[in-house]
Amino acid sequence: MWNDASTPSVAAAPAAAERGQDFLVVENLSKRYRADQPPVFENVNFGIRKGEFVCVIGHSGCGKSTILNVMAGLEEASGGCVFMDKREIDGPSLDRGVVFQSHALLPWLTVEGNLAFAVRSRHPEWSAQQVAEHSARYIEMVGLSAAAKKKPTELSGGMKQRVGIARAFAVAPKMLLMDEPFGALDALTRGVIQDELVRICEETHQTVFMITHDVDEAILLADRIFLMSNGPRARVAEIVVNTLPRDRTRDSMHHDPQYYRIRNHLLDFLVRRSHRIQQASNSAAAEVQDTGGTVTVYPGLEEEGVAAPSAPAAVPELVRREPIALAGKAA
Ligand SMILES: Nc1ncnc2c1ncn2[C@@H]1O[C@H](COP(=O)(O)OP(=O)(O)O)[C@@H](O)[C@H]1O
Ligand SMILES: [Mg+2]
Repeated sequence: MWNDASTPSVAAAPAAAERGQDFLVVENLSKRYRADQPPVFENVNFGIRKGEFVCVIGHSGCGKSTILNVMAGLEEASGGCVFMDKREIDGPSLDRGVVFQSHALLPWLTVEGNLAFAVRSRHPEWSAQQVAEHSARYIEMVGLSAAAKKKPTELSGGMKQRVGIARAFAVAPKMLLMDEPFGALDALTRGVIQDELVRICEETHQTVFMITHDVDEAILLADRIFLMSNGPRARVAEIVVNTLPRDRTRDSMHHDPQYYRIRNHLLDFLVRRSHRIQQASNSAAAEVQDTGGTVTVYPGLEEEGVAAPSAPAAVPELVRREPIALAGKAA
């Protein structure tokens, strides 16, 4: 196992048998775009429990979007497989809702038309009124009721992104896959939508896999944060368990000493370890040893200068999460 002095309490990655209980299982996934080039990523293994919120962080180009697209059934892996609910994923399905980095709206339909189109696909038996009411709820959720009759060309980038988010939620997929969904939003809107996301996940126990480059967003939202090493031959090198209390809020979480330990751990990974792991896995002569596996870490439980306890026992089970209080309810 690759390691260095800054790696805090480490537990072995869940065994394959344990992953068998996961709702979503990714096994030995790899992707190679060109035969004469090394794979973008390989040896990617993880499981996601039902109702769990997982964030993925890694440098640009390490293959995050490709992994998400394979999970969505939109792209084929070169090796390995993905199972959801014990069934192998071999194509797109309404069971997996996707929110892309850039919106993917139907340009000839209004906001409510885009929502209704998705809701009708999911519930073909619903009356027009049921579809309209359901759509309106989610349009309101993202604060776009006043723009419901507008077409995508009449909306700002942030507004279009919010329509995409509302559409994904309205379909209530078994798994929500989001690729940097809030990256294009201004900070205020992002905060409001993050809070809505927490509230909906709390209500619906939505299972989420989300790519983000924002470590604070990951600490706020995620139960576990997957850290990918740099490509080529990238992999999920570390799984950081978020041990902050579930009722954390954007306003309060920085008062918890765990927050800085987790945040520093994530930043250290991005600044130093992601690159060193990649070097180690590409060079037999590297001074750091690397077995190519995934380690689970609990940096929040590390006290300065004190060895952390055997971490798994100290990690709270998934519990219901309270809605996040809005900062000044500014929106
Ligand atoms: N269709 C493609 N053909 C060739 N290379 C691709 C293709 N799509 C992505 N790549 C390459 O695969 C790597 C991973 O891409 P991507 O999954 O988009 O990374 P990330 O989302 O982590 O930034 C990048 O180096 C990218 O250039
Ligand atoms: Mg990407």
